[in-house]
Amino acid sequence: MNNFEFYSPTRFVFGKDTENEAGKLVKQCGGTKVLIHYGGGSVVRSGLLDRVKKSLEAEGLAYVELGGVKPNPRSGLVYEGIDLCKKEGVDFVLAVGGGSAIDSSKAIAAGVVYDGDFWDFYQGKWIDKALPVGTILTIAAAGSEGSGDSVITKEEGNYKRGATGEGIRPKFSILNPALTQTLPPYQTACGITDIMAHLYERYITSSTDVEVTDRLIEGLLLTMVHEGPRVIADPDNYEARANIMWAGTMAHTNSCGVGRNQDWNSHNIEHELSALYDCAHGAGLAVTMPAVFTYEMPRNVMRFAQVAVRVWGCQMDFEHPEVTARAGIEAFRNFLISIGMPKNFEELGAKEEDIPKLVEMLCRGDGRDGTISGFMTLNEEDCTKIYKLMV
Ligand code: NZQ
Ligand code: ZN
Repeated sequence: MNNFEFYSPTRFVFGKDTENEAGKLVKQCGGTKVLIHYGGGSVVRSGLLDRVKKSLEAEGLAYVELGGVKPNPRSGLVYEGIDLCKKEGVDFVLAVGGGSAIDSSKAIAAGVVYDGDFWDFYQGKWIDKALPVGTILTIAAAGSEGSGDSVITKEEGNYKRGATGEGIRPKFSILNPALTQTLPPYQTACGITDIMAHLYERYITSSTDVEVTDRLIEGLLLTMVHEGPRVIADPDNYEARANIMWAGTMAHTNSCGVGRNQDWNSHNIEHELSALYDCAHGAGLAVTMPAVFTYEMPRNVMRFAQVAVRVWGCQMDFEHPEVTARAGIEAFRNFLISIGMPKNFEELGAKEEDIPKLVEMLCRGDGRDGTISGFMTLNEEDCTKIYKLMV
């Protein structure tokens, strides 16, 4: 196991009606004037936004609103949010929605207290300072409610990039599984896929003797295999939604990723798909992961065979472990298809002729040096082969 530090100071408030505690929690964090930041309107239609405002008003807190965050959030609204916060003297950013609203909120929070262009953070500058951020989560997926990460697409050049830093880890996150009951089945399935991706990206490692985190990841993957189909069949199943929601948060606080090298090649390769085609991140991952895993598997056959046996119930073939490893990848792919995810470029809406452009954006875009690095370092030729496996 590698040396590590783990510090994850978000206060999670979980359960029915917990959104009504928003005002109290903002006050405890010292907020006096709040930016409420949200997406395309689901929180307006569900009545959640009104409940949140009432909760702020009950504590005597002032607020301004900025809606309109799109899935795969864009830089333009971030700049608008930064200007609004400066003009209005906002001292707390409250995200109401999914990963997109949360990530846009984090970018605004970091940009308000920074003298330069907020995009510097998305080119690798660590974020150690930001306005405090709180979240009210409406979809179990990205894990942004417990992560120190944010992913934004720069409109100029269409680059989708991530930023990291303790400064943007939420001070609190309100998780009411009932709020996810209004999700369309496709978005629920995209969320399930993203959660499983966050687990797999950590599972695929060259670190050895990491049994505790292996077992945590396997437990969470098994939970998703059990609860995923239950929630797709019965969208109002609160208990299944509750288990998925907490698994989604656990998957990305990094509690099961400490002490080990991680992969993240699938995420990097997918981000170009959601940047170019504006598809849902989870749907892009459903197509990307089996291709990446197939490509990476020969590098550590036993790791892929292990997850095949322990999660997917495959029989271990000791003479040909690669057969077991491949069966595990296939079982995962079939699971994703069974919950309604796309299986190839065509179903995702991607085009084979765009592969050179995707590779260029991935490996050279926004100052990259021709490779991406995870469990394996991949060059342009590798990435071309991986995209071709998805066709
Ligand atoms: O915009 P609204 O109207 O709210 O609709 C959203 C959106 O269309 C809808 N939705 C969310 N909650 C709903 C609902 N509709 C009905 N009822 C509800 N309760 O669902 C759609 C997707 O929302 P979005 O916030 O985009 O979903 P998600 O949470 O999957 O976030 C995706 C973004 O997160 C990034 C992704 O790349 C993508 O940009 N990620 C962020 C990470 C992080 N910060 O740590 C890590 C992830 O790996 C990921 O890359
Ligand atoms: Zn993800």
